[in-house]
Amino acid sequence: TIAATGDRPMSFSAQNLPEGLKLDPATGRITGALAMKGEHIVMLGAKNSLGSVEKKFRIVCGDQIALTPPMGWNSWNCFAQENSADNVKAAADVLVKRGLANHGWTYVNIDDFWQNNRESQDPTLQGPFRDTDGFVVPNARFPDMKGLADYVHGLGLKIGLYSSPGPWTCGGCTGSFQHEQQDAQTYAKWGFDYFKYDWCSYGSIADGKAATDKSISSSDAGEKGKRDVEVATYPYRLMGKFLREQKRDIVFSVCQYGMSEVWKWGASVNGNCWRTTYDITDTWESMSSIGFDQQDQAAPFAKPGNWNDPDMLVVGHVGWGNPHPTRLTPDEQYTHISLWCLLSAPLLIGCDMTKFDDFTLSLLTNDEVLAIDQDPLGKQATCVIKDGDLRVYARELEDGSRAVGFFNRGGKPMELSFKDFAKIGLTGKQTPRDLWRQKNLAAVDTAMDSIPLTIPA
Ligand code: GLA
Repeated sequence: TIAATGDRPMSFSAQNLPEGLKLDPATGRITGALAMKGEHIVMLGAKNSLGSVEKKFRIVCGDQIALTPPMGWNSWNCFAQENSADNVKAAADVLVKRGLANHGWTYVNIDDFWQNNRESQDPTLQGPFRDTDGFVVPNARFPDMKGLADYVHGLGLKIGLYSSPGPWTCGGCTGSFQHEQQDAQTYAKWGFDYFKYDWCSYGSIADGKAATDKSISSSDAGEKGKRDVEVATYPYRLMGKFLREQKRDIVFSVCQYGMSEVWKWGASVNGNCWRTTYDITDTWESMSSIGFDQQDQAAPFAKPGNWNDPDMLVVGHVGWGNPHPTRLTPDEQYTHISLWCLLSAPLLIGCDMTKFDDFTLSLLTNDEVLAIDQDPLGKQATCVIKDGDLRVYARELEDGSRAVGFFNRGGKPMELSFKDFAKIGLTGKQTPRDLWRQKNLAAVDTAMDSIPLTIPA
């Protein structure tokens, strides 16, 4: 869907669309398939009663997908075991109704608990794990997977699903062990566009337990997958291959919490993104230690099609089955979004979309901030200055400019007269711009001037 903000009705145009693709001028949706590799520069147009606008857009067809980090929503951080098709549909509706889709938010991802569960007493989670032919059986809360995918596609969005290479997911639901190919075929048949594969009980398999062993723990990551790269990569390589064999573009999200330096091999198993960390929660300690302390080592491996994933966003109403407003303060939330965008992270909103407030909406729809995350060069920022509580992150952008984040990890506001331009790779005359406020600051000559900054605690 062409992402364009503004009053509806709107009509869309696309000049120079390659053969095989077609545009619906009323919805702005481009559909179809390209038969040949290549790059196409298309001129997109959007028009409403107030005016019109054009923008160049690059369509690339080749071996790689997810050329910019995926943006969307995932059920886990708000609903966890309370996941249901109704919640998923409601989230998709809000992405469209509140206009997030017009800023590029696209994927609607179902996490754990769409399958039946090994021990739950909840009747809606009890039932067969697989049918007599071995096909996975969704639980009663997901009565029609194909219908759900059609519904989400009908809104101009894409849809994602979740499983584990082990016999059980982390939450104790049906995993894909020994049904990998069949599952990949099933997801493609239903129409899924994104797939998260979560290590979980595979830890026990990797350590040598039999799949039928009742003592297999759903969530114990085990030992071998932490040190032995062959063992760690095996299940992802297998599923990565089966996903590639489907006649669909399915983004492959590797989730094994960063074990055995996944950033070094994630691309080789067809992973489009890989978690670099254990699970995030909505506290400053969790978000800041993941964001500031654990990402630099993985940065050189991020590139178009392959992204480091510091886990999903914890803004809005989150709470893993028991949602409450995020415990991050507003400035901590600006830190979270700024940092994740600098890190070229997949951006997956983790909140209850039906309780979406205006602050969270503005936090997630600032196009100049999102453009840093989505910059096509795909270079992840690293920390270039670490001085007391000050952290300065910088990354190079496709147009030759630099995105820079100034962060204060301390408890008091910080006054700064910034002049270390060499560290962020800038010389000569420059016009700094505050992307959150979408305003230029005073022009500087980097040889003699400095930028006065107040960085909140
Ligand atoms: C793990 C993952 C989470 C989520 C849960 C589901 O903890 O890291 O992101 O998918 O499993 O059980």
